Amino acid sequence: MQSDELLVATEVTKAFGGHRAVDGVSFSLARGAIGGLIGPNGAGKTTLFNCLAGALQPTGGRVLLDGQDIAGAPPSRVFAAGLARTFQIPRPFPEMTVLENVMLAPTGQLGERFWANWLRPGAVAAQERHTRDAALHWLDFVGLGALVQQPARVLSGGQRKLLELARVMVAAPRLVLLDEPGAGVNPALLDQIVDKISALNRQGVSFLIIEHNMDLVMTLCRPVMVMAQGRLLLSGDAATVLRDPRVVEAYLGDAA
Ligand SMILES: Nc1ncnc2c1ncn2[C@@H]1O[C@H](COP(=O)(O)OP(=O)(O)O)[C@@H](O)[C@H]1O
Ligand SMILES: [Mg+2]
Repeated sequence: MQSDELLVATEVTKAFGGHRAVDGVSFSLARGAIGGLIGPNGAGKTTLFNCLAGALQPTGGRVLLDGQDIAGAPPSRVFAAGLARTFQIPRPFPEMTVLENVMLAPTGQLGERFWANWLRPGAVAAQERHTRDAALHWLDFVGLGALVQQPARVLSGGQRKLLELARVMVAAPRLVLLDEPGAGVNPALLDQIVDKISALNRQGVSFLIIEHNMDLVMTLCRPVMVMAQGRLLLSGDAATVLRDPRVVEAYLGDAA
């Protein structure tokens, strides 16, 4: 039987020199949830994402995805296990087309392997067709269908966020970590991103979202977890969390 918990992090820690950017963070995310992760700048949110997605080797702790231990596993293995992430600042290859950028699946492409190309050219061609169809499908889904042959440099900041979403969806992930999907996005595009996330969630994709836009957090995220100074301060539903004096203090402390 599958457990209801899709992701379980236990005492995840990441130290840079003597500084614990992530300091003993434990939480779990239920299958089908859209969790939110908020907190002032420097709280350790992106570093936690990097530990979950395999971009950084945690100093300590455990991360279970569907019961499988992925802490410290290379990004390719985490990705293959069904966890995909987007970047706080997307950097598409500017001269490649929008479609080509989305077709650059991060790992596991048969075509990347010289021997596969040589020994199994048919399989490589079939996979490329499959990736291309999937890329076109997801680009259409995020509303970039008309721009697929344009160089990525023409995209606005918000459109780059949508390209990121299409890029990760090509791999059919079970869990997507979004790092500030609303940052630098105009209100109309933001509504579109919110709609897309909801639609994907209805199709069974779970999310964990770092976001400063509280409208997006209120609309989409439950539970909302708050980090400050590397630690998980509290978690709960958005309205309760945002009223909590400890959260207000964490943000004011940041501004001071
Ligand atoms: N590669 C790194 N090397 C050293 N310190 C880092 C590194 N990445 C992040 N940090 C530090 O870790 C802390 C948390 O950063 P980050 O995870 O980016 O916070 P957030 O995403 O919540 O704004 C900050 O003090 C930051 O300077
Ligand atoms: Mg960050």
